[in-house]
Amino acid sequence: MQRCLTLTFARHNRLLLRNKFASAHCQQSAAMSGLLINQPKYSWLKELGLSEDNPGVYNGSWGGSGEVITSYCPANNEPIARVTQATMAEYEETVQKTKEAWKIWADIPAPKRGEIVRQIGDALRKKINVLGSLVSLEMGKIYVEGVGEVQEYVDVCDYAVGLSRMIGGPMLPSERPGHALIEQWNPVGLVGIITAFNFPVAVYGWNNAIALTCGNVCLWKGAPTTPLTSVAVSKIVAEVLERNNLPGAICSMTCGGADIGSAMAKDERVDLVSFTGSTTVGKMVAMTVQDRFGRKLLELGGNNAIIVFEDADLDLVVPASVFAAVGTAGQRCTTTRRLMLHESVHDTVVERVAKAYKQVRIGDPWDPTTLYGPLHTKQAVDQYLAAIEQAKQQGGTVVYGGKVMDRPGNYVEPTIITGLAHDAPIVHTETFVPILYVLKFKTEEEAFAWNNEVQQGLSSSIFTKDMGRVFRWLGPKGSDCGIVNVNIPTSGAEIGGAFGGEKHTGGGRESGSDSWKQYMRRSTCTINYSKDLPLAQGIKFE
Ligand code: UN1
Repeated sequence: MQRCLTLTFARHNRLLLRNKFASAHCQQSAAMSGLLINQPKYSWLKELGLSEDNPGVYNGSWGGSGEVITSYCPANNEPIARVTQATMAEYEETVQKTKEAWKIWADIPAPKRGEIVRQIGDALRKKINVLGSLVSLEMGKIYVEGVGEVQEYVDVCDYAVGLSRMIGGPMLPSERPGHALIEQWNPVGLVGIITAFNFPVAVYGWNNAIALTCGNVCLWKGAPTTPLTSVAVSKIVAEVLERNNLPGAICSMTCGGADIGSAMAKDERVDLVSFTGSTTVGKMVAMTVQDRFGRKLLELGGNNAIIVFEDADLDLVVPASVFAAVGTAGQRCTTTRRLMLHESVHDTVVERVAKAYKQVRIGDPWDPTTLYGPLHTKQAVDQYLAAIEQAKQQGGTVVYGGKVMDRPGNYVEPTIITGLAHDAPIVHTETFVPILYVLKFKTEEEAFAWNNEVQQGLSSSIFTKDMGRVFRWLGPKGSDCGIVNVNIPTSGAEIGGAFGGEKHTGGGRESGSDSWKQYMRRSTCTINYSKDLPLAQGIKFE
């Protein structure tokens, strides 16, 4: 133990020295670049324990000596602060510490683990506004949505606390006298959580709260473009663990890029890899994890449709479409990308939705009156322009928006495109930007088929008053998505249900309902408490 401490201490000193050099260098460039964190307007960032340079590794203690990355604000492309990512050696050390921490965590009774998760939820509640502001500043989504995703983490903590007294398996009737047949659920062990930029808090929260309650430890790699949010969240969680004299490595974090992500995918010690991101990267992760017969939980792309029938309440359709297509600047997995309109309401709805688009207040995401902020990166702006070009080439007409906005930051106009064929290649492509393709249909059969013909299967909605149609939509020939809605948008799911989708969306389920099962392994246990050895199926082996 003593040797361990000495080693750790020596390493700490080395890091301090190295960080001193790094920080001297950084101070120079900070002065040149003017980090936002140094401006009085953003001094609230310090309430989250952030500073100019932040360690990007947590495994019971803070560290990080890999590449230094700067986090930029998408609303003005100014640097906020810096994070030092993990090296491969630090990843290795962190996995070891996290595995060690599991030995302690797995022995704690589930309701007591639930109590720790409850405290994490409370700690998040106290910081909800300031953490929501950081999400807004670093990711670029509007303030209420930033706060909203911290609320999702809080909600899933509450859910997980209840779950901590409910998870378990049934005792099944055995066909043999004097035998008990029991299902026992155990934690899988170490859950690796790789999250995307668009929900830098909530998606970690869904995984973290449920995985912890089930008796797992977590290792988190957030998106390389939202590292400050990862650090701030980990600080809140770490404080709770440390206050309870638990190993901080129960919730470890290694900031990094593809190197850390693929190390997690390959690593036999990572019992479950929960990945949220693009279908392309998700497929690589899935194949790598499958290659070692590991477990995976995938939340990949969506190409979500709202279908509006002739009997729909258009007063619901218009705000629902605007929220789902324009909200988060089109960067939710659940964003509506296809708006299918019955031919009898097509023109009216296009006109009303376009009018509503005009009223969307565009501005700084943290301004409470703003409804629409920037895209997260400059690359996304390029993808937006390329998609509009392709849509035009494939026969589409831009009826609203279509241009990059002349202001600092990654702002583009929310865009509506009509006239495309339901199976035009661009309509079948998920471009993670605020472009809405409007399609005209004639029959229910056609609309349901179009909903299902894309590769993705995340979310879907119909607007109708016809009860027969509602149940056809929910049934075997209806929507093939994981999320199937009626008279509400495709986005904005509650945490109480299982979240995820079919086909190229990856098949995983997170958050509520029985998603906890994905974080546990099931043992079928047969216990003979008789003095005989009867065999199943009546076999006599004598
Ligand atoms: C995502 O876009 O990755 O249903 C998650 C929603 C949110 C979660 C979206 N509750 O839109």
